[in-house]
Amino acid sequence: MSEVAVSILSVDKENATHTFYNLETARPEYFHIDVMDGKFVENNNLELMKDYATTISHISNIPLDVHLMVENVEEVADEYIDLAPDRVTFHIEALKDKDRIFNFIQELKENNIKVGIAISPETQIEELKPYLKYIHMVLVMTVVPGKGGQKIIPETLEKIRSLKKYLEENSIDIDIEADGGINGETSEDVREAGADILVSGFYVVSAENKRAAVEKIRG
Ligand code: DX5
Ligand code: ZN
Repeated sequence: MSEVAVSILSVDKENATHTFYNLETARPEYFHIDVMDGKFVENNNLELMKDYATTISHISNIPLDVHLMVENVEEVADEYIDLAPDRVTFHIEALKDKDRIFNFIQELKENNIKVGIAISPETQIEELKPYLKYIHMVLVMTVVPGKGGQKIIPETLEKIRSLKKYLEENSIDIDIEADGGINGETSEDVREAGADILVSGFYVVSAENKRAAVEKIRG
Protein backbone atom coordinates (compact mmCIF):
# COMPACT_ATOMS: atom_id res chain seq x y z
CA MET A 1 0.00 0.00 0.00
CA SER A 2 1.35 3.42 -0.88
CA GLU A 3 0.63 6.92 0.39
CA VAL A 4 -1.35 9.39 -1.69
CA ALA A 5 -0.60 13.07 -2.27
CA VAL A 6 -3.47 14.87 -3.97
CA SER A 7 -2.25 17.64 -6.30
CA ILE A 8 -4.51 20.69 -6.11
CA LEU A 9 -3.19 22.10 -9.39
CA SER A 10 -6.43 21.21 -11.21
CA VAL A 11 -8.74 22.71 -8.55
CA ASP A 12 -10.95 25.45 -10.01
CA LYS A 13 -10.82 28.84 -8.30
CA GLU A 14 -14.65 28.73 -8.32
CA ASN A 15 -15.59 27.18 -4.92
CA ALA A 16 -12.02 25.97 -4.33
CA THR A 17 -12.62 25.83 -0.56
CA HIS A 18 -15.60 23.52 -1.07
CA THR A 19 -13.38 21.25 -3.20
CA PHE A 20 -10.68 21.26 -0.51
CA TYR A 21 -13.27 20.13 2.07
CA ASN A 22 -14.27 17.28 -0.29
CA LEU A 23 -10.63 16.34 -0.79
CA GLU A 24 -9.99 16.47 2.95
CA THR A 25 -12.77 13.89 3.54
CA ALA A 26 -11.07 11.62 0.99
CA ARG A 27 -8.19 11.47 3.53
CA PRO A 28 -5.07 11.53 1.34
CA GLU A 29 -1.79 11.48 3.28
CA TYR A 30 -0.75 14.84 1.76
CA PHE A 31 -1.98 17.82 -0.19
CA HIS A 32 0.51 18.29 -3.03
CA ILE A 33 1.05 21.97 -3.83
CA ASP A 34 2.43 22.51 -7.35
CA VAL A 35 4.20 25.87 -7.34
CA MET A 36 5.20 27.27 -10.75
CA ASP A 37 7.04 30.53 -11.48
CA GLY A 38 6.59 30.92 -15.27
CA LYS A 39 10.38 30.61 -15.66
CA PHE A 40 11.35 27.04 -14.71
CA VAL A 41 8.02 25.99 -16.30
CA GLU A 42 5.70 27.99 -18.58
CA ASN A 43 2.84 28.53 -16.15
CA ASN A 44 2.99 31.01 -13.30
CA ASN A 45 0.70 30.18 -10.38
CA LEU A 46 2.79 31.59 -7.53
CA GLU A 47 0.00 33.68 -6.02
CA LEU A 48 -2.78 31.12 -6.53
CA MET A 49 -0.83 28.24 -4.98
CA LYS A 50 0.12 30.34 -1.95
CA ASP A 51 -3.59 31.24 -1.52
CA TYR A 52 -4.62 27.59 -1.91
CA ALA A 53 -1.96 26.33 0.51
CA THR A 54 -2.92 28.99 3.07
CA THR A 55 -6.63 28.09 2.80
CA ILE A 56 -5.87 24.38 3.15
CA SER A 57 -3.65 24.98 6.18
CA HIS A 58 -6.59 26.81 7.84
CA ILE A 59 -9.18 24.09 7.17
CA SER A 60 -7.22 20.85 7.34
CA ASN A 61 -4.40 19.24 9.30
CA ILE A 62 -3.42 17.03 6.35
CA PRO A 63 0.30 17.72 5.77
CA LEU A 64 1.44 19.90 2.87
CA ASP A 65 3.83 18.43 0.28
CA VAL A 66 5.17 21.48 -1.60
CA HIS A 67 6.61 20.85 -5.07
CA LEU A 68 8.66 23.86 -6.25
CA MET A 69 8.88 24.10 -10.03
CA VAL A 70 10.73 27.40 -9.76
CA GLU A 71 14.13 28.86 -10.58
CA ASN A 72 14.60 30.91 -7.43
CA VAL A 73 14.16 28.02 -5.01
CA GLU A 74 15.26 29.64 -1.74
CA GLU A 75 13.16 32.80 -2.24
CA VAL A 76 9.95 30.92 -3.11
CA ALA A 77 10.48 28.34 -0.37
CA ASP A 78 10.67 31.18 2.20
CA GLU A 79 7.08 32.04 1.20
CA TYR A 80 5.94 28.62 2.50
CA ILE A 81 7.90 28.29 5.73
CA ASP A 82 5.19 30.05 7.77
CA LEU A 83 2.70 27.33 6.66
CA ALA A 84 4.93 24.68 8.27
CA PRO A 85 4.75 22.24 5.33
CA ASP A 86 5.68 18.62 6.00
CA ARG A 87 8.08 18.63 3.05
CA VAL A 88 9.42 20.93 0.34
CA THR A 89 10.83 19.55 -2.91
CA PHE A 90 13.01 21.47 -5.37
CA HIS A 91 14.20 20.48 -8.85
CA ILE A 92 17.84 19.50 -9.27
CA GLU A 93 17.59 21.12 -12.73
CA ALA A 94 16.92 24.49 -11.00
CA LEU A 95 19.56 24.37 -8.28
CA LYS A 96 22.91 23.13 -9.57
CA ASP A 97 25.41 24.70 -7.20
CA LYS A 98 26.42 22.17 -4.49
CA ASP A 99 26.89 24.82 -1.78
CA ARG A 100 23.47 26.34 -2.51
CA ILE A 101 21.92 22.88 -2.36
CA PHE A 102 23.49 21.96 0.97
CA ASN A 103 22.66 25.40 2.44
CA PHE A 104 19.06 25.02 1.31
CA ILE A 105 18.81 21.49 2.74
CA GLN A 106 20.09 22.82 6.05
CA GLU A 107 17.66 25.80 6.02
CA LEU A 108 14.69 23.46 5.53
CA LYS A 109 15.86 21.10 8.26
CA GLU A 110 16.36 24.01 10.66
CA ASN A 111 12.69 24.84 10.03
CA ASN A 112 11.72 21.22 10.74
CA ILE A 113 10.74 20.66 7.10
CA LYS A 114 11.60 17.44 5.27
CA VAL A 115 13.64 17.86 2.08
CA GLY A 116 12.81 16.42 -1.35
CA ILE A 117 14.72 16.67 -4.62
CA ALA A 118 12.77 16.28 -7.88
CA ILE A 119 14.11 15.02 -11.20
CA SER A 120 12.44 15.70 -14.54
CA PRO A 121 12.07 12.84 -17.05
CA GLU A 122 15.28 13.73 -18.93
CA THR A 123 17.45 13.84 -15.78
CA GLN A 124 19.36 10.75 -14.60
CA ILE A 125 19.35 9.64 -10.94
CA GLU A 126 23.17 9.84 -11.08
CA GLU A 127 22.82 13.60 -10.49
CA LEU A 128 21.10 13.02 -7.14
CA LYS A 129 23.57 10.55 -5.64
CA PRO A 130 25.69 13.14 -3.73
CA TYR A 131 22.58 14.32 -1.85
CA LEU A 132 20.58 11.16 -1.15
CA LYS A 133 21.81 10.53 2.37
CA TYR A 134 20.99 14.13 3.39
CA ILE A 135 17.37 14.26 2.17
CA HIS A 136 14.04 12.58 2.92
CA MET A 137 12.53 12.02 -0.53
CA VAL A 138 13.19 11.83 -4.26
CA LEU A 139 10.33 13.02 -6.48
CA VAL A 140 10.50 11.22 -9.84
CA MET A 141 8.50 13.20 -12.41
CA THR A 142 6.45 10.76 -14.48
CA VAL A 143 5.39 13.60 -16.81
CA VAL A 144 7.19 16.71 -18.06
CA PRO A 145 6.71 19.27 -15.27
CA GLY A 146 4.38 22.19 -15.91
CA LYS A 147 0.78 21.07 -16.04
CA GLY A 148 -1.76 18.58 -14.73
CA GLY A 149 -3.85 16.06 -16.66
CA GLN A 150 -0.98 14.70 -18.80
CA LYS A 151 -0.36 11.06 -19.77
CA ILE A 152 2.30 9.17 -17.82
CA ILE A 153 5.67 8.64 -19.57
CA PRO A 154 6.13 4.82 -19.26
CA GLU A 155 9.96 4.98 -19.44
CA THR A 156 10.01 6.85 -16.11
CA LEU A 157 8.86 3.67 -14.34
CA GLU A 158 12.25 2.12 -15.13
CA LYS A 159 13.87 5.09 -13.40
CA ILE A 160 11.78 4.42 -10.28
CA ARG A 161 12.81 0.75 -10.33
CA SER A 162 16.53 1.52 -10.63
CA LEU A 163 16.35 4.23 -7.96
CA LYS A 164 14.57 1.79 -5.61
CA LYS A 165 17.28 -0.80 -6.26
CA TYR A 166 20.08 1.72 -5.65
CA LEU A 167 18.49 2.91 -2.37
CA GLU A 168 18.07 -0.68 -1.13
CA GLU A 169 21.61 -1.70 -2.13
CA ASN A 170 23.01 1.32 -0.30
CA SER A 171 20.64 1.12 2.71
CA ILE A 172 19.32 4.63 2.07
CA ASP A 173 15.86 4.69 3.62
CA ILE A 174 14.09 7.60 1.92
CA ASP A 175 10.74 7.99 0.13
CA ILE A 176 10.27 7.79 -3.62
CA GLU A 177 7.39 9.97 -4.78
CA ALA A 178 6.01 9.57 -8.33
CA ASP A 179 4.30 12.59 -9.82
CA GLY A 180 2.23 13.04 -12.97
CA GLY A 181 -0.35 11.09 -14.97
CA ILE A 182 -1.19 8.74 -12.10
CA ASN A 183 -4.78 7.44 -12.13
CA GLY A 184 -6.86 4.28 -11.65
CA GLU A 185 -5.18 2.59 -14.61
CA THR A 186 -1.54 3.59 -14.05
CA SER A 187 -1.27 3.55 -10.24
CA GLU A 188 -0.66 -0.20 -9.88
CA ASP A 189 2.39 -0.12 -12.21
CA VAL A 190 3.74 2.90 -10.34
CA ARG A 191 3.34 1.17 -6.96
CA GLU A 192 4.96 -2.01 -8.32
CA ALA A 193 7.87 0.01 -9.70
CA GLY A 194 8.58 0.98 -6.09
CA ALA A 195 7.04 4.39 -5.44
CA ASP A 196 6.11 5.00 -1.78
CA ILE A 197 4.02 8.12 -2.42
CA LEU A 198 1.84 8.60 -5.50
CA VAL A 199 0.79 12.09 -6.54
CA SER A 200 -2.56 12.29 -8.28
CA GLY A 201 -4.27 15.47 -9.40
CA PHE A 202 -6.76 15.40 -12.24
CA TYR A 203 -7.98 11.82 -11.54
CA VAL A 204 -8.89 12.56 -7.91
CA VAL A 205 -10.03 16.18 -8.29
CA SER A 206 -12.38 15.26 -11.17
CA ALA A 207 -13.73 12.10 -9.48
CA GLU A 208 -17.36 12.09 -8.29
CA ASN A 209 -16.30 9.86 -5.37
CA LYS A 210 -12.97 11.33 -4.25
CA ARG A 211 -12.55 8.90 -1.36
CA ALA A 212 -12.83 5.91 -3.74
CA ALA A 213 -10.38 7.58 -6.14
CA VAL A 214 -7.80 8.07 -3.37
CA GLU A 215 -8.25 4.45 -2.23
CA LYS A 216 -7.78 3.25 -5.83
CA ILE A 217 -4.48 5.16 -6.09
CA ARG A 218 -3.37 3.89 -2.64
CA GLY A 219 -3.91 0.26 -3.72
C1 DX5 B 1 2.98 18.57 -12.94
C2 DX5 B 1 2.79 18.48 -11.42
C3 DX5 B 1 2.02 17.27 -11.02
C4 DX5 B 1 0.65 17.19 -11.67
C5 DX5 B 1 -0.08 15.98 -11.16
O1 DX5 B 1 3.98 19.53 -13.22
O2 DX5 B 1 4.03 18.42 -10.76
O3 DX5 B 1 1.88 17.26 -9.58
O4 DX5 B 1 -0.09 18.35 -11.36
O5 DX5 B 1 -1.36 16.06 -11.66
P1 DX5 B 1 -1.95 14.92 -12.62
O6 DX5 B 1 -2.23 13.76 -11.69
O7 DX5 B 1 -3.20 15.58 -13.14
O8 DX5 B 1 -0.92 14.59 -13.65
ZN1 ZN C 1 3.86 18.02 -8.59
